[in-house]
Amino acid sequence: MTWFYDPRRTYDDNYAHGPFGPLAGPADGLEAPARTATFLGHEVARPFGIPAGPLVNAAFAAAAFRHGFDVNVYKTVRTGARASHPFPNALAVHVDGDLAADRTEPLVADGDLDRATSISNSFGVPSRDPDAWQPDMAAAVAAAAEGQLLVGSFQGTHPPAGVADREAAYVADHVAAARLVAETGAPVLEMNLSCPNEGTGALLCFDAAQVARISGAVKEAVGDVPLILKLAYFRDDAALARFVDATAGIVDGYAAVNTLPARLVDSAGRPALPGAGREVAGVCGDAIRWAGLEMTARLARLRDAGAGEFAIVGVGGVLTAAHYAAYRAAGADAVMSATGAMIDPGLGAAVRAVPA
Ligand SMILES: Cc1cc2nc3c(=O)[nH]c(=O)nc-3n(C[C@H](O)[C@H](O)[C@H](O)COP(=O)(O)O)c2cc1C
Repeated sequence: MTWFYDPRRTYDDNYAHGPFGPLAGPADGLEAPARTATFLGHEVARPFGIPAGPLVNAAFAAAAFRHGFDVNVYKTVRTGARASHPFPNALAVHVDGDLAADRTEPLVADGDLDRATSISNSFGVPSRDPDAWQPDMAAAVAAAAEGQLLVGSFQGTHPPAGVADREAAYVADHVAAARLVAETGAPVLEMNLSCPNEGTGALLCFDAAQVARISGAVKEAVGDVPLILKLAYFRDDAALARFVDATAGIVDGYAAVNTLPARLVDSAGRPALPGAGREVAGVCGDAIRWAGLEMTARLARLRDAGAGEFAIVGVGGVLTAAHYAAYRAAGADAVMSATGAMIDPGLGAAVRAVPA
């Protein structure tokens, strides 16, 4: 089946011509159920949808809403235009069972997507200029029906060489991005702290003090609009507790997990993705469900222990309605699926069919 974001086409081709496959068409016979949950102050039909990534513009977001994905995230934007990493970006990743967080041996990745349940994601967080994405994100916000919600995702960009106070400029860029997203009318914001394609060693989410500074500045700028932080997998439980301790009083929720990094090679052992700095890429889908479920459960334990009042968005490897239920049971207030929704565009309707 053709995926609505089609990894066999370039990012720009997807942006210009997608979505593809069944999601592009009407959703026959799908009726909105009664609103069954409250997520960050908004009543939603089902607290389920597609996380930052595959919904690259308003046409994709509108298609997702139409097909019963009720809480969807518009792909991460920046304060300035940036091109995608060269094609290909999403390859089938051949991994047996769970992908360990500390794996060092390479995995084979190729274009055999027909049976893939785990894929790579190596885009480098491309963005249009705000003049282009702001009106488009506003259209995506407007595409949400009753009981549906669009979340606007953004990310800060490091200042160019030569900028004097790099630290202040980096904080200011996050604030500027958040303001621009809030201006579109997005009712919830998500700040991506976990892009593995920007260098796995120095993910922003592993610097709790810096995140607290940035989040504080962002919240001051956007006021009451809820702010979610998108996290990578924390191997160290104490580090996660310190992170939540530093930020739970500032932000409104956490989304976990982003992709797990792995070294990807072709069948001859050469790097699977072209270009410098892409030997290690993010892997998502079936192989990382364990990590999303574990992070959800750990965040829920911290919440139960009094660490804060935050919402939890469970992400990673949700391929079926049963996986959705497992995340809810682990403590997720909302659940999202990127790879699974691409493989099965009927997943939103399937989750709606689960008794609330
Ligand atoms: C094609 C694609 C693009 C993605 N782009 C982003 C992004 O721009 N920002 C972000 O925070 N996460 C991004 N992600 C990560 C997803 O939001 C999600 O955390 C990850 O894919 C795990 O979920 P899954 O197993 O359901 O795919 C992307 C994922 C995919 C598949």
